[in-house]
Amino acid sequence: MRSHRVKDTLQVEMGEQVVLSGWVHRRRDFGSVVFVDLRDRSGFVQLVFDPSRGTSEAAMEAADKLRSEYVIVARGRVEARDADTINPKIETGEIEVVVDEVVIENTAKNPPFYIQDGVEVDETVRLKYRYLDLRRPEMQKMLMMRHQIIRAFRSYLDDHDFIEMETPILTKSTPEGARDYLVPSRLQPGEFYALPQSPQIFKQLLMVSGMERYYQIARCFRDEDLRADRQPEFTQLDIETSFLSQEALQEMMEEMVAKVLRDVVGVEIPRPFQRVPYHEAMDKYGSDKPDLRFDMAFVDLAPVLEGTDFRVFADVLASGGVIKALVVPGCAHFSRKQTDDLVAFVKTYGLGGLAYFALTDDGIKSSISKFFSEEQFQAMAHHAGAKKGDLVLIGAGDRKKVLPALGALRTKFGSELGLADPNAYKFLWVTDFPLLSYDEEEKRFVAEHHPFTMPREDDLPYLATDPGRVRAQAYDMVMNGYEIGGGSMRIYRRDVQEMMFAALGFTPEEAYDKFGFLLDAFEYGTPPHGGIAFGLDRIIMLLAGGKSLRDVIAFPKTASGTDLMMDAPSEVAEAQLKTLHLSVRRKS
Ligand code: AMO
Repeated sequence: MRSHRVKDTLQVEMGEQVVLSGWVHRRRDFGSVVFVDLRDRSGFVQLVFDPSRGTSEAAMEAADKLRSEYVIVARGRVEARDADTINPKIETGEIEVVVDEVVIENTAKNPPFYIQDGVEVDETVRLKYRYLDLRRPEMQKMLMMRHQIIRAFRSYLDDHDFIEMETPILTKSTPEGARDYLVPSRLQPGEFYALPQSPQIFKQLLMVSGMERYYQIARCFRDEDLRADRQPEFTQLDIETSFLSQEALQEMMEEMVAKVLRDVVGVEIPRPFQRVPYHEAMDKYGSDKPDLRFDMAFVDLAPVLEGTDFRVFADVLASGGVIKALVVPGCAHFSRKQTDDLVAFVKTYGLGGLAYFALTDDGIKSSISKFFSEEQFQAMAHHAGAKKGDLVLIGAGDRKKVLPALGALRTKFGSELGLADPNAYKFLWVTDFPLLSYDEEEKRFVAEHHPFTMPREDDLPYLATDPGRVRAQAYDMVMNGYEIGGGSMRIYRRDVQEMMFAALGFTPEEAYDKFGFLLDAFEYGTPPHGGIAFGLDRIIMLLAGGKSLRDVIAFPKTASGTDLMMDAPSEVAEAQLKTLHLSVRRKS
């Protein structure tokens, strides 16, 4: 049905015959001459229907009937356009195809929105008619980029001795933090499979099996509250290796990511990536995934506030809290309304308030001017590296509240003040995450990453005595403020795994009941191993310039977890429920 793709008409000789297939993008009728922009996956080309240039009578009749989104096959010859009709906006703008014959393969209803880039259409309409939304060139471009990115990853891994392997989708609930999607079993009444939150345990067992280097483009399922960078069903590039140190694995992953950027976006990224321990990332940037395209690190004001008589600050210091400054360049002119908005902003992060001073041309202006002298302000400014024209924001209180609140402010300014270059790619590793955190509700320690993560060797003695201070051999890869991947070295000896389960508050019996198969496997010669999983959708969104994960997933879910096109989830027939031994408590 076609001799060439639309874009390939650029490669043929003038006057050569071509057969093209695609969709009518736009039709312009000038009476005796009709122009049609034909669209296929490769782009656009202008078709000309003109009897004086050889178009058949039947083709002229068909041209009258053509409407947007009709599917046609056109035969004609490629000709150069006259200089005054050249269209620089499209790739094939210097040529046109003069049609001899045309076949209308299919008609189309008027689509609910224009099939073109930059349409201002409610996203729910786009999702309901996703197959039309995906016809838009910008969406096609993003999905093609998805393919190229995955291909580049695969090619690196293939060249480095990795084997692609599949693991089950119907599996057992794994304790990885999020809620599971459950699937009822027909053959085992009252029992359920869980969809995998990740292939974590399987990939570790593949290392026990001696597979040494595994990867998978793995679909993962997590029933969690959704945000723009989270989907209930998403894709990981899942990797596991044996006999590689953490350092060697990180180096290899950097090399792989660098290749993907080189192949797909043509950018060479500097290596090695910066490594920032978790505590330092929190102390300096208030985030475990800081955007380092700009610096704006917090400054600890405690050294210059020692002995202050300002009660609020003195109390914070006395109770072991922190006082951190965030210098906002060039914002000394902020109005009262603007600084009030900043205070309201940090309150949404649970911080009681925000003090500030501005280094204006007319001297210091401050919310705490009553409590500090000009000299004291200058000392704080000097210590924080602030200069005339800057605004200094001060957060004081419990570090768990101050750091994330200032971190959110830093991110906000990064985009609002244009500090983060949208064309830059800044990668780093955040390392040495805490192994465990105390869960107030459950009144026990829970794993920060997952229970198979190896503690740092030097912290191992604290696992039994002071679990909260144990650091993990875990690492996240961060790009432009997004966590794009996370992994760890794994526990591979039964005694350490048992210590870990004990720290999590499991009795040996409970641990064996849940993970007996893993503990048993560890007794048959488990190699040292570790791995990582990349959030493919996130990486693709960032490289393709999408605004949300929905832009780079062909058939995504809405924020409430629904598929608007298929209308899923949906109720099922009573008979189906019965086969599955289920009864549903109806919504009242
Ligand atoms: P983790 O839970 O950190 O690690 O997930 C790895 C990466 O997957 C991406 N990601 C998501 N992307 C879209 N929607 C979601 N709901 C979502 N949740 C996570 C993130 C994240 O960095 N088994 C471990 C990996 C390992 O230890 O090897 C795991 O799943 O980019």
